[in-house]
Amino acid sequence: MVKSSWFILVELLLLLQCLSHFSISQGQGYDFFYLVQQWPGSFCDTKFSCCYPTTGKPATNFTIHGLWPNYSNGSYPYGCNRIALMMEPRMEVSWVSLSCKNNETTFWTHEWDKHGTCSESVLDQHSYFEAALNIKDKVNLLQILEAAGIHPDDKFYKVDDIEEAIKAGSGYTATVQCNSDLSGNAQLFEVYLCVDASGKDLIECPVIPTKKCNPSIQFPIF
Ligand SMILES: *[C@@H]1O[C@H](CO)[C@@H](O)[C@H](O)[C@H]1NC(C)=O
Ligand SMILES: *[C@@H]1O[C@H](CO)[C@@H](O)[C@H](O)[C@H]1NC(C)=O
Ligand SMILES: *[C@@H]1O[C@H](CO)[C@@H](O)[C@H](O)[C@H]1NC(C)=O
Ligand SMILES: *[C@@H]1O[C@H](CO)[C@@H](O)[C@H](O)[C@H]1NC(C)=O
Repeated sequence: MVKSSWFILVELLLLLQCLSHFSISQGQGYDFFYLVQQWPGSFCDTKFSCCYPTTGKPATNFTIHGLWPNYSNGSYPYGCNRIALMMEPRMEVSWVSLSCKNNETTFWTHEWDKHGTCSESVLDQHSYFEAALNIKDKVNLLQILEAAGIHPDDKFYKVDDIEEAIKAGSGYTATVQCNSDLSGNAQLFEVYLCVDASGKDLIECPVIPTKKCNPSIQFPIF
């Protein structure tokens, strides 16, 4: 009798330990990330136009818009704990600022302040920017699309074909987002992929972003 209640006590302690571990690992304040990449050609040919960074015209390639912490319930945290920005040289190439209203510093500061701060319990600022750059390099979106016969040549392609090509080439479901050029054509603007809360690996998206695309979209020259 004494022995069995002793066992129950030990079991309870073990259970408590598991539960506290569970709450620590769940306590990061977000569930997953969206890695959002943008096509510079679609950024530049709208009514807002674009401005190249001080380093000149960026490479013909997808670049990072952001790495955004999200909740699985579809909402997201923002503006969590602001600190001064430190640069990462690879960002000049892969996280290009094209807006005429922001320079690189203000763009990166905004992304860190609004989104990065909310994953600070897991990734400090340097690790956050590095995580986005590393994940981007795992999937060469442009190469995957070109291998499937989808080129930035101003022609129209089916959104379904674009998403299928990315799924086949990366192993993960992507969501394409569109914007409009000056003539009102829907075009390939952004590609969303999902990343686990540690910022290391691609995952299937817990929440699919709402899509605003025509079935057939243009892939602009850049
Ligand atoms: C979504 O989940 C987060 C974290 O649990 C919570 O803070 C937020 O209020 C939830 N939002 C909605 C719309 O349910
Ligand atoms: C995820 O978060 C981003 C910004 O952090 C927000 O713009 C987007 O609407 C969120 N996505 C979903 C599906 O809730
Ligand atoms: C970027 O813009 C901000 C705000 O307009 C300005 O304070 C800063 O000096 C600019 N930085 C560079 C490198 O041009
Ligand atoms: C385009 O980006 C991918 C992913 O980051 C990278 O692997 C590739 O080298 C880049 N290509 C060019 C031409 O810059």
